[in-house]
Amino acid sequence: MAVASVATTTPRDLITGAELTPAQLHSLLQLAAEVKAHPERFRGALSRKFLALLFEKPSLRTRVSFEIGMQSLGGGSVFLDYSAARMSERETVKDLARNLERWVNVIDARTYLQSTIEELAANAAIPVINGLSDRYHPCQILADFQTLEERFGNLRGFKLAFVGDGNNVCHSLLLAGARLGVNLKIATPAGFRPDPAIVAEARLAAKETKGRIELLTEPAEAVSGAQAVYTDVWASMGQENEAAEREKIFTGYQVNDALMALALPDAVFMHCLPAHRGLEVTEAVLESPRSIVYDQAENRMHAQKALLLTLLA
Ligand code: CP
Ligand code: NVA
Repeated sequence: MAVASVATTTPRDLITGAELTPAQLHSLLQLAAEVKAHPERFRGALSRKFLALLFEKPSLRTRVSFEIGMQSLGGGSVFLDYSAARMSERETVKDLARNLERWVNVIDARTYLQSTIEELAANAAIPVINGLSDRYHPCQILADFQTLEERFGNLRGFKLAFVGDGNNVCHSLLLAGARLGVNLKIATPAGFRPDPAIVAEARLAAKETKGRIELLTEPAEAVSGAQAVYTDVWASMGQENEAAEREKIFTGYQVNDALMALALPDAVFMHCLPAHRGLEVTEAVLESPRSIVYDQAENRMHAQKALLLTLLA
């Protein structure tokens, strides 16, 4: 079960991202940097530990970075593909959890519903990690802030703009960004703002760190003076039937050269990937020297190794 955000002990799970206190998030990012700089120090650290990946949706980065990361720590992994049917169809989520905990040491789940991950966590005696749900993508955001810290150092007051859908990635940016004291400007169409409950939770955390959160509708206003511009797909996995309608609504939210020109001269472009060139971002921006999307992808592995080391310590 998730540990309250006030906890100072290491949380057992990472299912929303809000389990981590600012201090714990800083420590995790510090460990991620160390894992990246000195992978040899951690070889064998998780020997005889096993990870089960339960995925209801496709994945490149999350699957490969977790599996390779676990192996490079001396552990092993098993991938359970539930993409053809939701994981509760053959047996209950509760039974999945109670079987898996007998064989493996940690579960990483990618589900449609956040409640499925919460049910796994409530019924498993081992750590459960959210590998993306309809509400959160905490592992992505660990890698993203590792990537930004590498370039910009301490992120207190860092000006980060998010343009597009107030989705799972946006929610996780809010929760982690608030804990790091980031100045986050989010531009979405009016009906696509991030969930007010998550915004409120992030604002509460931001009080402690002097972070700032602004919800806007104009991309230009969010990007103006930004040090990083982040976008994600307009239709997330599971929303494919809304894609055409969303393309119309989000047309003005494309990150292109004109929008990037409003950011600071050394501003970077970020995307969790996969990207749709010509929709939420142009080919030119994605391929420009400002784009750090492949650094983000690489850091998925380092950040998640740090996470596994922390949860399995
Ligand atoms: N960014 C991300 O989570 O990529 P995958 O969907 O390929 O895992
Ligand atoms: N928001 C996207 C992120 C993919 C990594 C989705 O949920 O499909």
